[in-house]
Amino acid sequence: MTRPLILLSLLGLGLASCGQSGASESAPASPPRPEPTPAEKAVLLASLPAPYNAGDLDNGRRAFARCRSCHTITEGGPNMTGPNLWGIFGRTAGTHAGYNYTPAVKNAGFAWDADRLDHWLQNPRTFLPGNKMTFPGLPDATDRRDVIAYLKVETGFAPAPPATPEP
Ligand code: HEC
Repeated sequence: MTRPLILLSLLGLGLASCGQSGASESAPASPPRPEPTPAEKAVLLASLPAPYNAGDLDNGRRAFARCRSCHTITEGGPNMTGPNLWGIFGRTAGTHAGYNYTPAVKNAGFAWDADRLDHWLQNPRTFLPGNKMTFPGLPDATDRRDVIAYLKVETGFAPAPPATPEP
């Protein structure tokens, strides 16, 4: 008749020590946010102003392949030849931490939006003369639309108000 009691108290000890080891794991300062699902990306895409709401994300990803050798787009991603582009929309030009910009970009004096990015990508050399982005530009307007839509969806851009209905 005492055995169940012993088992119970053993269980209790086990649980208690589990709780302790759980508590000693330090929580990360800012947990990485979950990657949006394809459905969430589609909702975000549809909420963008025209013409970006008609963007083709697959073509945008293909077009971005031309940027990938110099830019990462993930949250906390490293700077390479060019700066990390996470959060680029609404970010003041030339301000990503730890990146050594030219004065041309550092002193641009604006925050990136779709329109400015469109001009930059059409011809980086003439948009901010003296910059060091040695990229000839994307001459095709559809490629620019699609790469901008892709970057909106992939770099943490959040429109207000949220378009996702509560589950
Ligand atoms: C050969 C390397 C290279 C390629 C390819 C390239 N970039 Fe860049 N990019 C740079 C460099 C270098 C800078 C910094 C320019 C400066 O400081 O003068 C930059 C800056 C930028 C900025 C400004 C960032 C800020 O923080 O203000 C944006 C936006 C950008 N690039 C987008 C793109 C996109 C989108 C593509 C592809 C369509 C692309 N780049 C292709 C090298 C590159």
